[in-house]
Amino acid sequence: MDATDDAHRLTTVEDLPENDSFLFTVRERDGSQEEVILVNGGDCIAAWKNFCQHETDQRLDRGFGAAMRDGDIICPKHGSMFDGCSGHCDNGKASGSTLLSVDVTEDDGEIYLTDRTCDFDHEGGIEEDDDDDMPSSSSHLTF
Ligand code: FES
Repeated sequence: MDATDDAHRLTTVEDLPENDSFLFTVRERDGSQEEVILVNGGDCIAAWKNFCQHETDQRLDRGFGAAMRDGDIICPKHGSMFDGCSGHCDNGKASGSTLLSVDVTEDDGEIYLTDRTCDFDHEGGIEEDDDDDMPSSSSHLTF
């Protein structure tokens, strides 16, 4: 059996040009959702959880593509650059850290999610509810 037999097909190499990214959301084993960016780092296709290692609430792709240059992913907040292939950062505020990887496999020009710790949920980021749909968190407290 191939690694890609029951894997979700994300996109194709042709549709992911160098220095481009593709944002999708996975569901982890604990039921939580996590955003992932699939990137073409030039020498590689790789996928990383969509947050900086300096401040983990900072998304790398804020919904309109990750900023990339020469195969590096650039954090939009303080400008640290992460190697798109290794995930490692050797500069700026995130220096010495490495992005969290998600397993993907390229097979015959197609790119599959092959990470056994999560399942594909949907393309794009985690949908945030409109603010006016959100109940005020304090209004449901009971004592
Ligand atoms: S939040 Fe990314 S470098 Fe500071």
